[in-house]
Amino acid sequence: MADTVLYYSMSGKSRQTAQEIADALKAPLVAIIENRPRKPNFAGFVSGIVDSLLKREPKIHTSGPVAIANRIILCGPIWAGRIPGPIRSWLDEYGHDTADLIWVPHSGQSREWPKAIEEIVLLTGRAPDLIESFSEKDFARGQAADKARRFAAKLAGVVKNKFAA
Ligand SMILES: Cc1cc2nc3c(=O)[nH]c(=O)nc-3n(C[C@H](O)[C@H](O)[C@H](O)COP(=O)(O)O)c2cc1C
Repeated sequence: MADTVLYYSMSGKSRQTAQEIADALKAPLVAIIENRPRKPNFAGFVSGIVDSLLKREPKIHTSGPVAIANRIILCGPIWAGRIPGPIRSWLDEYGHDTADLIWVPHSGQSREWPKAIEEIVLLTGRAPDLIESFSEKDFARGQAADKARRFAAKLAGVVKNKFAA
């Protein structure tokens, strides 16, 4: 199955992971972009929290076409324990048509996100086929890029020796 790496990112971490995975898989990389982009500042933070809590769906477009029959590797942040508005908008429109959805959440804390998963189930009709979580610690320790490449190797079904634990 061919892959498409799809991401939304406000402060750049999900974009970094998405880029690593796309490079490793030689897959197209597509961004979800808000029609009125939010800035990574205090106002963006507050509006992000409010949108998440109210389950708002901001208007979005993508940087390129998304082949919906592909395995979609969806990278994005956790906002208020939930999926961020731009990802909600995309999943509401296309989620039920996805054949295979891999979710790669990015968050401050390292924990599980039941409310986010609950919403993905609602918007796609099922739980993600696979989840790989990234936290601020992965980035602070400089381990995020390696972790993304290891995950891409797992997705490709090729775990090379140098990545073996
Ligand atoms: C509006 C907003 C809400 C957030 N809520 C949470 C949260 O509930 N739990 C958490 O661990 N991190 C939370 N974070 C931190 C982000 O999930 C984290 O910084 C993520 O890596 C950002 O991804 P990005 O750089 O791709 O935007 C929040 C950040 C923002 C901007």
